[in-house]
Amino acid sequence: LEEEMQNKVLDGKKVLITAGPTQEKIDPVRYFTNPSSGKMGFALARQALSLGADVTLVTGPVNLTTPKGIRRIDITTAEEMYDQVLEHYHSSDIVIKAAAVADYRPKKTFEKKMKKQDGDYTVEMERTRDILAELGRRKEHQYLIGFAAETNDVEQYGRQKLEKKNLDAIVINNVSEAGTGFGHDTNSSLFLTKRGRETTMPLTSKDELAKQILREAVKELAGEED
Ligand code: CTP
Ligand code: CA
Repeated sequence: LEEEMQNKVLDGKKVLITAGPTQEKIDPVRYFTNPSSGKMGFALARQALSLGADVTLVTGPVNLTTPKGIRRIDITTAEEMYDQVLEHYHSSDIVIKAAAVADYRPKKTFEKKMKKQDGDYTVEMERTRDILAELGRRKEHQYLIGFAAETNDVEQYGRQKLEKKNLDAIVINNVSEAGTGFGHDTNSSLFLTKRGRETTMPLTSKDELAKQILREAVKELAGEED
């Protein structure tokens, strides 16, 4: 397999990856977001490209340079990510949802800057659409990989997401562990597949982790063909 991985095992395959946070505006100068840096998604994009894939990267606002040879689509909100991902879904072979999508957005977005007033202020929030769950519902031929960011009961919550969202595999990150998840250059994960494969991926660089994730996906895809 090592030898296979040096070759272009994803030659001719279309890989769709999401990365980074989303931003959900309250007014022209304020928004809700999260600390996602986009590094994991970008590492996956670089790795997929080096394996010969045709890579589309839908990313929220990040401070990263676009790997040469990748189709990068910039979005800001969860709703914009939803539209782009759904548009590219049908033609994709492998889909990896590393983005940290906002679960809620302000119910109202004000066109003019709100002026501060004395006392407290409450923002009413509404749910965004769960893009990954929608991909699970609409799944055809795609191999669908999700992520899970958890602080406790990580395996249990991760397994629930794998099943509930109809995924083929999930990368579970314990974000309360040192060096794991948001913003770091390193990550550690538990990788579970629908077919029952379980792989512990100890703390390593996001580039190395991306390699391991794609290696597992390639193994599963090869297994499905015979
Ligand atoms: N996700 C998504 N759309 C959303 C929210 C999450 O596509 N509106 C995706 C993420 O990209 C990730 C996976 O769902 O691949 C899991 O995200 P996570 O935040 O861990 O789980 P949630 O299902 O949002 O549940 P919770 O935050 O309550 O744990
Ligand atoms: Ca969430």
